[in-house]
Amino acid sequence: MKLETVIPDFKAQSTQGPISFYNWLGDSWCVLFSHPADFTPVCTTELGRIAVHQHEFAKRNVKLLALSCDKLQDHKNWVADIKSYCLDIPGEFPYPIVADEKRELAVKLDMIDEESKDKESEAMTVRALYIISPDHKLKLSMVYPASTGRNVDEILRVIDSLQLTSRLKVVATPANWTPGTKVMILPHVKDEDLPKLFPKGVEKVKMPSGINYVRTTTDY
Ligand code: BEZ
Repeated sequence: MKLETVIPDFKAQSTQGPISFYNWLGDSWCVLFSHPADFTPVCTTELGRIAVHQHEFAKRNVKLLALSCDKLQDHKNWVADIKSYCLDIPGEFPYPIVADEKRELAVKLDMIDEESKDKESEAMTVRALYIISPDHKLKLSMVYPASTGRNVDEILRVIDSLQLTSRLKVVATPANWTPGTKVMILPHVKDEDLPKLFPKGVEKVKMPSGINYVRTTTDY
């Protein structure tokens, strides 16, 4: 799916009861993520690690919603396995898992790979992960194959970048950025506006080209 696509509203069955997406999301951000299948090892680690860090998502006003094409009862049974494997999940399993048995959502949300998209019997979703803003727009997409589990620190890191740059529209975060480290000032910002925008200071890096485009700050 293309960035900035409006994710359509949908109704679905989940381990926490029926969900009406827009209503369920309210004013939060969302991490909507698919996994290939229940009762598989890498998926067990992914849903478990994401559950362990649920408080980190909640702190950022992000709701979590998992999805696969398995049956609702399978999701419910599998959750007990995930909790037993990841002993550091506190309390109840913290987020809903959607049962998209007819693959309707998986197809609509582009979560099936090119080779199996027309084979209904191979109903496995890939590891698609969409970060959706409160106005229902797709802000970031990560699509991993079944062979490669995702990294929770990276998911949190990109949420921090998205939320910072949506609040402060004149900066972007550089490679390997983590919160608190320097950010880049966007090229269209005029030098004369910098003191007002970043009173604590800006560093201008001299480049061999002589072009003044690398300007950094930690004032955000
Ligand atoms: C897994 O989660 O381990 C997995 C699922 C489907 C294909 C390959 C691996």
